[in-house]
Amino acid sequence: MGTQTPGVVQLTDRYLHQMTDLVYYNGEYLSKADMRVDPDERGWLLGDGVYDVVAAYRGTFVGLNTHVQRLARSQREAGITTLMPHDWSAIAHELLRQNGLDTMERAVVYIQVTRGVAPRAHAFPRAQVPPTVYAYARPFRALHEGATGCQAITVSDTRWSRCDIKSISLMANCMANQRAYEAGAYEAIFVRDGVVLEGTHTNVFAVIDGVVRTAPLTNYLLAGVTRGIILDLCRTQGIIFREATISEAEFRRAEEIFVTGTTTEVLPIVRLDGRPVAMGDVGVVTQRLQQLYFAAARAGTI
Ligand code: PDD
Repeated sequence: MGTQTPGVVQLTDRYLHQMTDLVYYNGEYLSKADMRVDPDERGWLLGDGVYDVVAAYRGTFVGLNTHVQRLARSQREAGITTLMPHDWSAIAHELLRQNGLDTMERAVVYIQVTRGVAPRAHAFPRAQVPPTVYAYARPFRALHEGATGCQAITVSDTRWSRCDIKSISLMANCMANQRAYEAGAYEAIFVRDGVVLEGTHTNVFAVIDGVVRTAPLTNYLLAGVTRGIILDLCRTQGIIFREATISEAEFRRAEEIFVTGTTTEVLPIVRLDGRPVAMGDVGVVTQRLQQLYFAAARAGTI
């Protein structure tokens, strides 16, 4: 498979069926089975790290530079500086290629940077401690409900107040998403002080009085790359939109609701807290944005 890169495990035909065996760990490509994580790693002990996730369609990444910039911002805000530079863009391409995923309909690359290995203490370790970096690629499937729509529930936001940092500490998100799962819903949408913010792993949009609305960027939500792409599509296609606070009352009378995310793509929400959103059908604006998004993702124009 291609030319030999030093330190890169070449996959033979025998391994092709495993697909996601090769990972990037602390500057090297190696088989996941050969990875050894130190128990004193702060990501493991303290959830002290940041991450990002980027999707590729048949080898073409969606918003790769924006994801890489967001990871750098998360690192900066968290004060996690790698000692050596990691060319995430090149690494993402290499992981796809080496795992035979560059022809796959859909694949994701996950990148994580944690504060490194040190005896457990809350304060940061000394500057010399290198952060631990880890990245892997794997295929993902489209949610088949994309065409018909999913359910969501609302939950009160129990998370911290730096949701703009893509932190690996996701316990509140996991607990909320589990509640959604148990209610037969795809997503739990966080509401704080009567305001709709985002989902556990998605951004939230609603069509209210004919206008596409999404929460403005604050410390209470993540600047989703897919969110940004949808707003750009609205801009270029002349679809009226506003980044403005959505009250819970407005949300409950929305004509359409959809959620967006790297692996969620553009997903219509047709029932909220067990009640139909408007007539309970996938809305026309949602459908249009979904089609525009898929077309742009496949064409590699975003
Ligand atoms: N989640 N909000 C939160 C809390 C998220 O975790 C995510 C992404 C988003 C959407 O961001 P983007 O469009 O850049 O994927 C919004 C990733 C996919 C995850 O945790 O797997």
